[in-house]
Formats: sequence, structure tokens, C-alpha cells
Amino acid sequence: MRKGFLALATSGLLAVTGLAACAEDKGADTGAPKTPKIGVILPDSKSSARWETADRKYLQAAFDAAGIKADIQNAQGDKTQFQTIADQMITNGATVLLIVNLDSGTGKAVLDKAKAQNIPTIDYDRLTLGGSASYYVSFDNKAVGKLQGDGLVKCLTDKNVANPAIAQLNGSPTDNNATLFKAGAVGVLQPKYDAKEYSLVADQPVPDWDNAQAGVIFEQMFTQASGKINGVLAANDGLGNAAITVLKKNKVNGKVPVTGQDATVQGLQNILAGDQCMTVYKAVKQEADAAAALAISLAKGEQKTTDQTTKDTESGRDVPSVLLVPQAIFFNNVKDVVTDGYVTKDELCTADFAAKCTEAGIS
Ligand code: BGC
Repeated sequence: MRKGFLALATSGLLAVTGLAACAEDKGADTGAPKTPKIGVILPDSKSSARWETADRKYLQAAFDAAGIKADIQNAQGDKTQFQTIADQMITNGATVLLIVNLDSGTGKAVLDKAKAQNIPTIDYDRLTLGGSASYYVSFDNKAVGKLQGDGLVKCLTDKNVANPAIAQLNGSPTDNNATLFKAGAVGVLQPKYDAKEYSLVADQPVPDWDNAQAGVIFEQMFTQASGKINGVLAANDGLGNAAITVLKKNKVNGKVPVTGQDATVQGLQNILAGDQCMTVYKAVKQEADAAAALAISLAKGEQKTTDQTTKDTESGRDVPSVLLVPQAIFFNNVKDVVTDGYVTKDELCTADFAAKCTEAGIS
């Protein structure tokens, strides 16, 4: 199921309730007219390729199409830099802030500062626990984890692995999404652990989703388990690739299914090569379009209602939300990601992968 933002809007998922239609709305703090200007802070460019290759591109395109000014910056994983960028955006007259927090504490500080200046905010992709964002736009992240858990089970079953030993390489402990991904996946795997059908041999989070650290952690897991790891629940493609590198070194790549997330070129190529079992495709264009549409309406002084809310587990607040539907990708439907325009055939089907692309029906 793939609904664009417009489809969501027409189906009533989002409805305009406020009627301030003029672009030059009165600023609440000074009374002076404010030109809509949207500040976006992306988290980094290393934990996943998506932020720079997809989110930035689609957000910019959505703001450009609406003729709205936007300043999109990347904090490069630096929490101090994150605050500095936010301060500058506020000083430079941002009328809406859209953030992907690096952790809830520093995210909350930025949201609170914006709120004090009557600047509405959107939590983009990651919910800031205890925060004050006006909206939260993301995917159903527990569903992402469930797809990973189900995917791992499918790949182990396809390979006829009996009593598999599983290693769980989880996302950053400071990212609420990582908590949800794990909850969704463990919901599938725990009954198998309990029934002694599967065994859990390693389970660790990767601080800041750091791919290099993930390699070190997985190497330790592999050594400690004396190489007896039959399946890897990796929370995204970057962590999955770190595990695959270790598996390759030990000549067991392809034998041990590894999960992922983000449908990155690297992740999809790992799937085509048979080294990765699956990834989760999140159509970032839908997410960016939904967030941009909300940001633009906020910048114009409009209020929209959403038909979903997300419980902030720290404050208990129900945050108005748009939560989109993720899709599992295996070898057979890698082509869906290309058809959707998320990656191009040229990027994916380089010389080494040309034959596999043909086999997977990518033409
Ligand atoms: C996002 C994932 C991404 C990860 C690392 C999560 O919050 O939802 O798409 O892979 O952060 O950047």
C-alpha cells in the first residue's frame, strides 16, 4: 500500500481546520508579517545514506514546488552543532522547524527553544521523547521491525536452518525508532526463543548507529559465539553491511541471513549478491511530502488535523502523527524500489550486479 501525501489528504487523513490562507501571516511574537521559511535539521550522513541521498532531495523538491523558502542543514552527528544550527535558524527568522533528533534530550532543548519563540515544530522520522513538537511524521516503526523479524524467519526457513542461533544488532539506544524496530522484531522472534526453536546468542545496540562500531561489535559477537551465528537481525542496511563484512572474512556470507532497512544501494546490492536476506523500503518521498505539506501549512498559520497520534512514552502526550506503511524487500521484489524511482537502475546495476539485476527482473 503506497499512498502519497495528496492521497492521504484527499482520503481525509489530513484535514485543514484553520483558515488563515495568506502566505504573509502575522508573526505571533512581533506582530510583523513573516515570510514562510522552513528550517530542516538532518542528523548525519553516515548512519544511513538516506538522509543526504533521499530526505534532503525530496524535502527540497517539495518546498521548491510550493515556492517556499527552506534551509536544509545536516548536524553531521554533532549534538552541539545541532543546537547551533537550530539557534541560527531561529535567529534568521525560521517560521517552522523540522528536526531529526540525535537524541531526545538535545532534540527537546531545540523544540522547547522554538516553542518559546512561537515557532511550530515537526519531529521528522524520529519522535523526541518528552518533546513538544506540533506533529510527528514517520513510518510505522514497529511494523518496520516486524517486517525484519518476519523476513529473518522466512530466510531461515527457506534455507532450512534448524535451531538457528541469532545475533541481534540493534540501532542506537538514543533513537526511539530503534526501540520500536527492536520491539517489532522481537515480537516475532521471542516466541521462537521461548519455544527453544531459535536461540538468542548476542544482542547489542550500536551507539549512534555507527557502522564502523557495528563491525567491531559484530566481530566480537562472532568470536564469542565461536562462529555459531546462523541469522543476524540488523536494524538497518549499514549495520547489516558491517555484519556481512565480518561474515565474508569468515567465508560464511550468503549462508547466514542478515536483515536491513532503508533500501540503500549498498543494501540492495547485498541482496542481489545473496549476502543480505532482506531490507525494509520506506518510501521517503511520501514521508518528505507529508512533512513538507504540514510544515508549509504551519508556516502559513494553518492548523491541520491528522487521523493518527503517537503516544510519547515519556510525557504521555498523544502527538498528532502521519505514520506511513513500510514494505519488505527480498531478491524477487528489489525491482519495486527501482520502479518507485527511489534508486536508479544505473546506480544499482553496476558491472558486478548486471547479471543479478537481469535475474531479478530489473530492466
Ligand atoms: C531511521 C532509519 C535510519 C536510522 C539511522 C532511524 O531513525 O528511521 O531509516 O536507518 O535512523 O540513520
